[in-house]
Amino acid sequence: MFRRISALIAIGAIGMAMTGCGSDGDTGASSAPGGGDKLVMGFSQVGAESGWRTANTKSVQESAAAAGIELKFSDAQQKQENQIKAIRSYIQQKVDVIAFSPVVESGWDPVLNEAKRANIPVILTDRAVDSADTSLYKTFLGSDFVEEGRKAGQWLVEQYKDKTDPVTIVELQGTTGSAPANDRKAGFQEVIGSDPKFKIAASQTGDFTRAKGKEVMEAFLKSTPNIDVLFAHNDDMGLGAIEAIEGAGKVPGKDIVIITIDAVKDGMQALADGKINYIVECSPLLGPQLMDLAQKVVKGEQVPARVVTEETTFTQEQAKAVLAERKY
Ligand code: AHR
Repeated sequence: MFRRISALIAIGAIGMAMTGCGSDGDTGASSAPGGGDKLVMGFSQVGAESGWRTANTKSVQESAAAAGIELKFSDAQQKQENQIKAIRSYIQQKVDVIAFSPVVESGWDPVLNEAKRANIPVILTDRAVDSADTSLYKTFLGSDFVEEGRKAGQWLVEQYKDKTDPVTIVELQGTTGSAPANDRKAGFQEVIGSDPKFKIAASQTGDFTRAKGKEVMEAFLKSTPNIDVLFAHNDDMGLGAIEAIEGAGKVPGKDIVIITIDAVKDGMQALADGKINYIVECSPLLGPQLMDLAQKVVKGEQVPARVVTEETTFTQEQAKAVLAERKY
């Protein structure tokens, strides 16, 4: 009996993989991919690792519905192999356009070449790939992550401009090999590197999650004496780190200065409460621009090769002023 049930489950799972539906969150919309009136987009999301990602998924899903685009959505659970499988499934289904947010920068050329051979345009959203062949995708919509790292560094340099003592920094990096982790690190280092008093004493990945941010910060607090500053590559890791700092009997935002990136609601609340000192915004609301670009590339219209998201920064006072109307 168990074997029969297992066999049925296995057949079901294969079927779901072929159609791209099931627990990955496929919207299961009705019209035939690529053939009907509705434009069909296959979208491969990184996962649900952070508040930013949840807001980004909502923006993509709501914008697709508003634009009358049929969205085939899959969540890769932060695994590149799952994204590659999803993209292959979208190619098989002959969707009109594929959009994805690559979990890491490298290793995409084979599957992007498959999409190109199938004449399906690809749009990169949120994160870049490091392919030398830029004809593999039509455009890249998302933030300038290097600039975000620079903004974090510039604020820090300004805060410590009158001090001469060494400043001990710990860094919580995003997912190893991802564009935001690589670029934010580089931008931050570029700015603080001009003054030798700034020293990154420890730097490790927290995989953009709150749980990992807490775990790694607990280790930093044990291994690194007199931490002055934490630079976390996103709010969620910063929020996890705050728990670790409080658990160690220290006051976040006072004993340790905290800079994060994103400006999601929980991060902005912590900034308004004085537990974070500065946040560089990274906007997840990419949906409307993504749908607009998708409609254009499917019609064969020219689109810019790069569309950079507009973003700002927040101090504690600015967070208090905007918190009530913050949408995500
Ligand atoms: O790629 C954007 C980054 O990914 C966000 O800063 C982070 O929160 C997310 O997980």
